[in-house]
Amino acid sequence: EKGGYEHFMLKEIFEQPKSVHDTMRGRLLVDEGVIKMAGIWDHVERFKNANRIIIIACGTSWHAGLIGEYLIEEYARIPVEVEYASEFRYRNPIITDKDVVIAISQSGETADTMAALKLAKEKGAFIYGICNVVDSSIARITDAGSYTHAGPEIGVASTKAFTAQLTILTLIAFKLGKHNGNLGNAEFMSLIAELDAIPKKIEDVLSTTHELTQNIAKDFVKATNFLYLGRGYNYPAALEGALKLKEISYIHAEGYPAAEMKHGPIALIDENMPIVIIAPKKGHYDKIVSNVQEIKARKGKIIAVVNKGDRQVSEMADYVIEIPETSECFSPIVASVPLQLLAYYIAVYRGANVDQPRNLAKSVTVE
Ligand code: F6R
Repeated sequence: EKGGYEHFMLKEIFEQPKSVHDTMRGRLLVDEGVIKMAGIWDHVERFKNANRIIIIACGTSWHAGLIGEYLIEEYARIPVEVEYASEFRYRNPIITDKDVVIAISQSGETADTMAALKLAKEKGAFIYGICNVVDSSIARITDAGSYTHAGPEIGVASTKAFTAQLTILTLIAFKLGKHNGNLGNAEFMSLIAELDAIPKKIEDVLSTTHELTQNIAKDFVKATNFLYLGRGYNYPAALEGALKLKEISYIHAEGYPAAEMKHGPIALIDENMPIVIIAPKKGHYDKIVSNVQEIKARKGKIIAVVNKGDRQVSEMADYVIEIPETSECFSPIVASVPLQLLAYYIAVYRGANVDQPRNLAKSVTVE
């Protein structure tokens, strides 16, 4: 049932060209220039007139929510807040019937997310669900929603559900932006054509980075710490890269916005600190270059995720992982794939049980 792969996690990483495609199927109609999402369309005025959107989630789904914030604010210009479900519910949050709450949950059973939703519902907010498991508890209490059609995710560390969540959030942002006039037709058309090409780019990145990430992983089996840095859309991608590594390899890892490094974490950098830096061409590249220079000056070991043909960052990096170029808003989908592979192989070489890491469960039904 692992389809020839050694672990479910690896199988699920490799399923991503298909799972992202399945999530777009029937929704993204490139030739007609249409995004079809009944859940959004039936309530489009609710979204359009919302005071704000509050995204509630935990773990990896919360990271997807952060990217959703960037997407929805950039393309639909609706204010978005992203909250950890557990924090939201215990702090007497201000919610009204003019708010839209989006819950993101792979399992649809996460107790903290469920409890936060109940609270938001009581206060009259409109509740939208982005779940992977069909007919799950969260899917059932929401007013409307969109399923990520990623298929069953068995590995405890979330991979294909994450990229499917990003796909749904992208579709929602573009659909709302087109409807409320913030996303012009020409830009909409070019963005959706690019989105349509993402599964192929994931396929390319899987084939060009699979062996490479194994080789890099061998050099970090004994590492005790890792930093992950990114800016803009790739800041949450850095958080997610760090979470993947710590969950399955038990190496301490932290994600940071690259510019925050100088406000503290830079104190940690020496020749023993591996630093994964996500630095595609589009998205504050020049700023990232100066961050990399600061790391280099302190002899940190740099693993750079860059676009094909990159020079400036690559010249300073100890390891270079190339990914295809995309618009900035899609880059977390593509950049996440080699980071999943890197975490996977480091964990495998450490002899860890990647599909069932210690202390973790696939759905967290305790609060
Ligand atoms: C990360 C992971 C967890 C979950 C979190 C939320 O790999 O598996 O952090 O993302 O427990 O779970 P869902 O999305 O099912 O609500």
